[in-house]
Amino acid sequence: MTTHTITVEPVGREVECDEDQTILDACLRAGVWLPHSCTHGTCATCKVDKLDGEVDLGEASSFALMDFERDEGKLLTCCARPRGDVTIEADLDVDEDMEVHPVEDYTGTVVVLEDIAQDTKRLVVELDREVGFNAGQYMKFTVPGADGAEPCDRTWSIGSPPGESSRLEFHIRNVPGGRGTDGWVFSTLATGDEVRLSGPYGRFVLKTGDDKHAILVGGGTGVAPLKSMVRHALEAGEYEGDLTLYAGGRTRAHLYDVDVFRALADEYDEFTYRPCLSDETPEQVEADGEDPDDYAFGMVTDVIEADHAKLSGCRGYLCGPPQMVDAALKTLMSRRLFPRDIFREDFFDESDKNSTGLKSPLIKR
Ligand SMILES: Cc1cc2nc3c(=O)[nH]c(=O)nc-3n(C[C@H](O)[C@H](O)[C@H](O)COP(=O)(O)OP(=O)(O)OC[C@H]3O[C@@H](n4cnc5c(N)ncnc54)[C@H](O)[C@@H]3O)c2cc1C
Ligand code: FES
Repeated sequence: MTTHTITVEPVGREVECDEDQTILDACLRAGVWLPHSCTHGTCATCKVDKLDGEVDLGEASSFALMDFERDEGKLLTCCARPRGDVTIEADLDVDEDMEVHPVEDYTGTVVVLEDIAQDTKRLVVELDREVGFNAGQYMKFTVPGADGAEPCDRTWSIGSPPGESSRLEFHIRNVPGGRGTDGWVFSTLATGDEVRLSGPYGRFVLKTGDDKHAILVGGGTGVAPLKSMVRHALEAGEYEGDLTLYAGGRTRAHLYDVDVFRALADEYDEFTYRPCLSDETPEQVEADGEDPDDYAFGMVTDVIEADHAKLSGCRGYLCGPPQMVDAALKTLMSRRLFPRDIFREDFFDESDKNSTGLKSPLIKR
């Protein structure tokens, strides 16, 4: 395998990168932090200037890296592979609350694979050794190729806290026709199977040095990284401020870990849990013998608007399908939360590569 040298300016760090490896992968494995979010060419967070050298731009979406930017010598580090020695210039500001853990490969054993909500499974993997990560980050799984197809990578957020460093939990929603979900987790994967994964990735992390009220908003399995954050904040005492979790689902059948969050809310005064039902009414809940006061009714955005006239001074953490994240973003901004205090993790999938994945450059991913 031919190897080339990547020089990362302005710090002048040099990293060896195989010709079939992305620049981002080589840097993260060498412990050189580069900004990134989706790691599959959709969000544009990893866009940098190429100062010198030749690259293959790879599968960068034409929305994330536009033609004029290609002409200007920009590249997406999560897609670009070197064709010689390359020099890039990147914004290397690392969040001071974030620990940089080099990306490594792990082997794991599936110890739990269970249905937790409609079209949703909990996957728990026991790793061959401990992994360091920040609450909110994600791992990348190698999905085996079926019927002679090449293996592919799929990313799922870690739902367990950093304190549980060799047993990772994931919440995965089925996508009909999806290779990683329909074609693997929801069909052939079984308890006892060995899996290959790498990480940690991402910069959607809890600002642990903070004392601002954290408004955490998750749609569907977007709750996964927020569960890691909430447990880390409360159980490890790693957060000074209050936390409110808005978990959105169409019906009670679409919500999961309701009892876990209710127990945390009972135990910790600083935590509030707001399970939100968009397609059920208080009457339906009552008819099933449950107390309607245990739920909020409407879209998460409606519930947040009703709960708060103003959110200035808070921090927003938004995660889930891109449309939900966009809607929640508008709601938080309408309640006077500055873009600099809002963090988002969009669960982009393969279909988003053909759309405008990057919604607002103002918002941190
Ligand atoms: C940072 C991050 C964290 C994530 N965390 C989670 C998580 O915790 N839980 C979770 O459930 N999901 C999460 N996701 C989403 C996850 O990574 C997968 O995208 C999702 O599970 C679907 O994977 P899949 O392989 O089943 O579907 P895919 O094979 O990716 O297909 C998805 C959809 O796109 C269509 N499609 C496939 N290829 C193309 C193409 N070339 N052009 C157009 N359409 C195409 C398919 O038909 C299908 O409808 C996360 C995503 C990101 C970016
Ligand atoms: S991290 Fe490269 S485009 Fe999203």
